Amino acid sequence: MKSQDIRANFLKFFEEKKHTIVSSAPMVVKDDPTLMFVNSGMAPFKEYFVGNGQPPSKRIADTQKCLRVSGKHNDLEEVGYDTYHHTLFEMLGNWSFGDYFKKEAISWAWELLTDVYKIDKNILYVTVFEGDKKDKTEMDTEAFSIWKNIISEDRILMGNKKDNFWEMGEQGPCGPSSEIHIDLRSEKEKAEIPGSELVNKDHPHVVEIWNLVFMEYNRKADGSLENLPQKHVDTGMGFERLCMALQGVQSNYDTDVFTPIIREIETISGSDYGQNEQHDIAIRVIADHIRTVAFSIADGQLPSNTGAGYVIRRILRRAVRYGFTFLNQKEPFMYRLVDVLVKKMGTTFPELNAQKQLIQNVIKEEETSFLKTLDQGLILLDRIINTTKGDVVSGDKAFELYDTYGFPVDLTALILQEKNMRLDEAGFQTQLEKQKKRSRAASEVSTEDWTIIREDDEQEFIGYETLETKVKIVRYRKEVSSKHGTQYQLVFNLTPFYAEGGGQVGDKGYLEAANGDVIYILDTKKENNVAVHISRDLPKNLTDSFTAVVENKQRFRIECNHTATHLLHQALREILGVHVEQKGSAVHSKYLRFDFSHFSKLSSEELQQVEHFVNSRIEGRLPLEEQRAVPMTQAVADGAIALFGEKYGDVVRTVRFGNSIELCGGTHVKNTADIWHFKITSESAVASGIRRIEAITNDAVKDYFSENDQRFKQIRNALNNAADPVKAVVDLKSENSQLKKQIEQLQKDKAKGVKSQLIAEIQSINGLNFLAKKLDLDASGMKDVSFEIGQKVENVVLIFAAEHNGKALLSCYISKDIVASKKLNAGAIVRTLGNYIEGGGGGQPFFATAGGKNPAGIPEALEQAVTLIS
Ligand code: SER
Repeated sequence: MKSQDIRANFLKFFEEKKHTIVSSAPMVVKDDPTLMFVNSGMAPFKEYFVGNGQPPSKRIADTQKCLRVSGKHNDLEEVGYDTYHHTLFEMLGNWSFGDYFKKEAISWAWELLTDVYKIDKNILYVTVFEGDKKDKTEMDTEAFSIWKNIISEDRILMGNKKDNFWEMGEQGPCGPSSEIHIDLRSEKEKAEIPGSELVNKDHPHVVEIWNLVFMEYNRKADGSLENLPQKHVDTGMGFERLCMALQGVQSNYDTDVFTPIIREIETISGSDYGQNEQHDIAIRVIADHIRTVAFSIADGQLPSNTGAGYVIRRILRRAVRYGFTFLNQKEPFMYRLVDVLVKKMGTTFPELNAQKQLIQNVIKEEETSFLKTLDQGLILLDRIINTTKGDVVSGDKAFELYDTYGFPVDLTALILQEKNMRLDEAGFQTQLEKQKKRSRAASEVSTEDWTIIREDDEQEFIGYETLETKVKIVRYRKEVSSKHGTQYQLVFNLTPFYAEGGGQVGDKGYLEAANGDVIYILDTKKENNVAVHISRDLPKNLTDSFTAVVENKQRFRIECNHTATHLLHQALREILGVHVEQKGSAVHSKYLRFDFSHFSKLSSEELQQVEHFVNSRIEGRLPLEEQRAVPMTQAVADGAIALFGEKYGDVVRTVRFGNSIELCGGTHVKNTADIWHFKITSESAVASGIRRIEAITNDAVKDYFSENDQRFKQIRNALNNAADPVKAVVDLKSENSQLKKQIEQLQKDKAKGVKSQLIAEIQSINGLNFLAKKLDLDASGMKDVSFEIGQKVENVVLIFAAEHNGKALLSCYISKDIVASKKLNAGAIVRTLGNYIEGGGGGQPFFATAGGKNPAGIPEALEQAVTLIS
């Protein structure tokens, strides 16, 4: 069965069981400080389990792109070395939110595996939770008796808390799980050791394929469990492993999910897969990592120097490094794999198809720049090797290469090994640890548990209508970080504060108690859909009612910039074309920044057109038309564009100004006229194929104009109040270049004039024609004169000095014939004489110059010249 059919059959099966099929959520998590990437199928639904929102349906099924490359789940270093771990994998899942429970989850899983996929029942094992004393949880007898009706008892194994109790994190919903394992070994191997002994023992061919979690508890902050009001089901099946089982192969990399990519790597590198273990590891690394990097870029996460972008950059570099070292790939090659990847996966994940060109460009650029780093690193390493006494390169040197120049340490070790040298690994580790300690200290955060003040329903955001309201504190916690010191996080029952999101920064403002005490809110951030307000202090009486007030001037400026961002987006698509896609947006009070896909620099005419377009919409006084709850399909039909990498519900908010319509949760001006004016301040490149515009509106434009006006006045003043300052500057420039030319000519004439006079002054010393003299020339004049005299007079040594722009100059000319016969060297002479002018220099044996900062030393230098030649 082809992988496409395996996936399609899963979704069809659950659709028939009345599940709503949803598409995979983006992999990059935006509003959860505990999670950088989606690492399991249930992560995008976390908020429904914790009760911060309603699922679109009580039964859901999907295939979810998951990344296990950071935090609690990190498989990066395993990838390539075994045949069943991945950085990116698909998790097939079905969910019940307070609907069906164990009986249906188990019997449907069995039906799908054995009836639909027709897996032989004799190679399957299941596990059931055995209970845990500390947690006071019982054995899952319910699951056990359901399984007993399905499978023989000797195939039901008991599992402990580590394997059979699934928890989302330290706190939150959790529950016992039942796993299904498959034994893919040969009959001979099975006869030797029964599969039941290898379940959960990291055997590459006895693997878990499906995890059925029965969420029935909530883990509280004190570690104890309480029953959830409703029971849920969360299942996750590894798609690539399922393909391995159904396609009769023994490695995920031998399934059709990977083989087209592997064939392409073979073609590019000329290395066949399956011939050499070292090459195979490299091929698996590359085949795995290209998927991760391409999917991330499609989800809007470009490689960068920080956060999620840095993780992606490191993964790409890991693949390039394996290609470089083991497959001899010295030119960019990863981008050439994008074609087959998109062909294979582009139908299920249209974001890949739509952004193929961009993905290729970004990968190629990253590869090029990393290969340059490798090249430079190789030169530096060569230098280190040549200057190392003995055969051990110090950890400090290797660390500098790694830390400052980004050169991978394993490559250093490998190259040293080839040269029969070695790296002081322990010394390197010491340096690495020191650096880790430094960065840990710089980013240390300790967050206390939430203190609950009152039980309350979902928090409501009322900041679209009002900036001031009475609120109550629901919960708070203390956070101490090396960056911000002590801060408090407060959650209210309702809030006018906008929490940072969709590019728009969080609101600032204050809380006022009845007695007039004020607590400042420094920022507002979103965490699992709840607005968290950040303050330095806590109010005295936390149970009071407070007046919450948003700083309105700042909010208004942000709104001007947010609306202007929408108009800018519309302008770019109208003027440059509909290939323009938003790739990043930052809406601050002082400016806005907008990143978008476009393949060339914008011309100044295009920038002017864009400004004009936006300003004409501002002058058009377009009112805000907001719809809080429109079905997503309706919004898209109306022309709203969904962004890749954003998560949308079935019901969305749309913001319209004239023909600009966007899916947006942000706050906006009531009328575009409020923006007053829009001005682009810069246009630049962010990455290959991604441009960035920065712009300002309203007050900032007024400041910009008045500053510019001021500067213009100063310039005009400096130009003696010229009526046409531009013409005055152009005239000045042309006059200046004419004067420069005249000076050059004068210098040349002067040199000619002094030439005959200097020839007359030449003296004979030790059979040489010698002259040492200070001239009133510049460096090029000194050189011209020297060479002209040299052509006329034989056996000559000329030492000239000059003072130019406060610096001392020396030159030495020696007729070529006597350089060898008399063993003279102009370079050595100027270096010696250079000491007297506090400088140095050099050149060729027959002509050399020196510069120094002490013109007062010239007479002495010339005297020494005479002594030297005598
Ligand atoms: N949450 C469980 C897992 O990730 C089942 O989906 O394994």
